[in-house]
Amino acid sequence: MNTVDEQADLSDLQRNRRSVRVFDPRHEISESDLARLFRAAQWAPSAGNSQPWGFLVGRRGDETHARFVQHLSRGNRSWVPSASAVVITAHQIASGPEDDAMVFSDYALYDLGQSVALLGVEAGVLGLGIHQFAGFGHEAVAAEFDVPPHWRVTTAVAIGAPGDPADADPLLVERDQRPRTRKPMADFVFAGSWGTPAGL
Ligand SMILES: Cc1cc2nc3c(=O)[nH]c(=O)nc-3n(C[C@H](O)[C@H](O)[C@H](O)COP(=O)(O)O)c2cc1C
Repeated sequence: MNTVDEQADLSDLQRNRRSVRVFDPRHEISESDLARLFRAAQWAPSAGNSQPWGFLVGRRGDETHARFVQHLSRGNRSWVPSASAVVITAHQIASGPEDDAMVFSDYALYDLGQSVALLGVEAGVLGLGIHQFAGFGHEAVAAEFDVPPHWRVTTAVAIGAPGDPADADPLLVERDQRPRTRKPMADFVFAGSWGTPAGL
């Protein structure tokens, strides 16, 4: 099993990335930082430059945030509300709301994920942490915010400044500090034929 120590050859930005679970509940994200994060998402590559992503953003204390956090799964309720912002992500699945509308793009989900990944990189540059999550009521959130039927609510992203573990719930800190592991590269990087490790 690969551990975090094996990230030694990565840039600091990549090595330090992790899904933050203890956020600073006093940190407020500026409008310019938020705009910069969405700029990174905006300039992500996508199939045919289709840009099939959409985002709904709420900052802690505002109405969108308050309406969204009601739909969190039990496991995510303990940490998401402390983040400075939450972003609901959606990808476009059809060209319009009509029942017979054409499928929008076979790669919409891929493209949305990539745009969020680049948003996360920009967050790292700003010294912010993000944590993507799927544990919330997707259909309830779509209804809550009038998401049209040709858009599919996909994930959400908590964004904020990493908090001080001394101020956080010890159970949360324990989950936050659990060792992070990955499958070895031989399990997913192949050469010659599928399943033959590339030996990197
Ligand atoms: C699509 C997606 C859904 C996720 N859903 C949740 C979630 O509901 N709750 C949670 O705590 N983490 C969630 N995560 C975070 C993953 O558990 C985390 O990325 C993974 O354990 C690897 O940890 P790392 O990001 O710190 O490397 C999700 C991540 C992704 C990309």
